[in-house]
Amino acid sequence: MNILILMGSPRLGGNTAELCKPLMGELERLGAEVCYLTLADKKIQPCRGCYACQDVAGEYGCVQKDDMEAVVERIRWADCLVLATPIYSWYCTAPMKAVLDRHYGLNKFYGSAEGSLWAGKSVAILATHGYDRAYATEPFETGVRRLCDHSGLSYLGLYSVRDEDNLASFRTAEAQEGARLFARRLMASMEARNQLRGLLDPEGRLTGFPAKRRKKVYALFYLAEKLEQGRAYTERELGQALLQWHTFSDPATLRRELYDSFFLDRDPQGRVYRLTEPQPDPRALGI
Ligand SMILES: Cc1cc2nc3c(=O)[nH]c(=O)nc-3n(C[C@H](O)[C@H](O)[C@H](O)COP(=O)(O)O)c2cc1C
Repeated sequence: MNILILMGSPRLGGNTAELCKPLMGELERLGAEVCYLTLADKKIQPCRGCYACQDVAGEYGCVQKDDMEAVVERIRWADCLVLATPIYSWYCTAPMKAVLDRHYGLNKFYGSAEGSLWAGKSVAILATHGYDRAYATEPFETGVRRLCDHSGLSYLGLYSVRDEDNLASFRTAEAQEGARLFARRLMASMEARNQLRGLLDPEGRLTGFPAKRRKKVYALFYLAEKLEQGRAYTERELGQALLQWHTFSDPATLRRELYDSFFLDRDPQGRVYRLTEPQPDPRALGI
């Protein structure tokens, strides 16, 4: 697995960099090849909106010749991009925003060229912020989710820690173990997508329920990722949520399998379901 960490903070030894360390260490321990690329020391001009890239087929095609070319080369190498950024004014930092805007040449949607140079890759966010998590990160996370939907990328989620005491906040056992857990989840998410290749339609829906244990567990892990952590689902709501992510209309079987494999918990009356926390690691489920 090739993982590109795009580090957007201007403070190369600051909070975000500190949180990247345990993430990177764990990814490498699990066998990933990791490239850590800082953006603040690169020359990456804002997008000019000239649309010239939209008429260049098969390559990035931006008229601006700056450090974005090297970033694009790394993006094309990666299976997964981790956008590591402090939250600045409810979004990412300016160098990262320039990179995100200049994704245009990777999507050929608006000119004579067609196709995508990055569809199918995965994206995740690692953020640090001064305000509480939801208030600080929601706008950026929403933007990234939409960019992923628009570009055919899989959004794998966010890990973030609040800056309460500068670097010390990111050196706590909790912050560091959270980053390692996030690394394990990213690896499992990518492995699930690999295992399910051929079983997902272009909208990411499961087209069949695998019979073999290994694939079945990855299918359940994949479906559980689509549900909201912490949310209480009635049986009906759960069925509706699952129906969006498979094509064979059998939410009852999926619900039972998710429960039997410890991805879902339910209240003693069997009326309300929630994702278990933490979610099981598919590799720990006997595969
Ligand atoms: C210019 C600027 C804007 C900021 N805007 C926000 C913000 O909108 N929301 C927030 O929660 N924190 C905000 N912060 C706090 C940083 O996100 C936080 O301190 C972060 O951990 C800094 O990470 P770094 O050391 O990697 O740069 C801002 C900080 C700066 C310097």
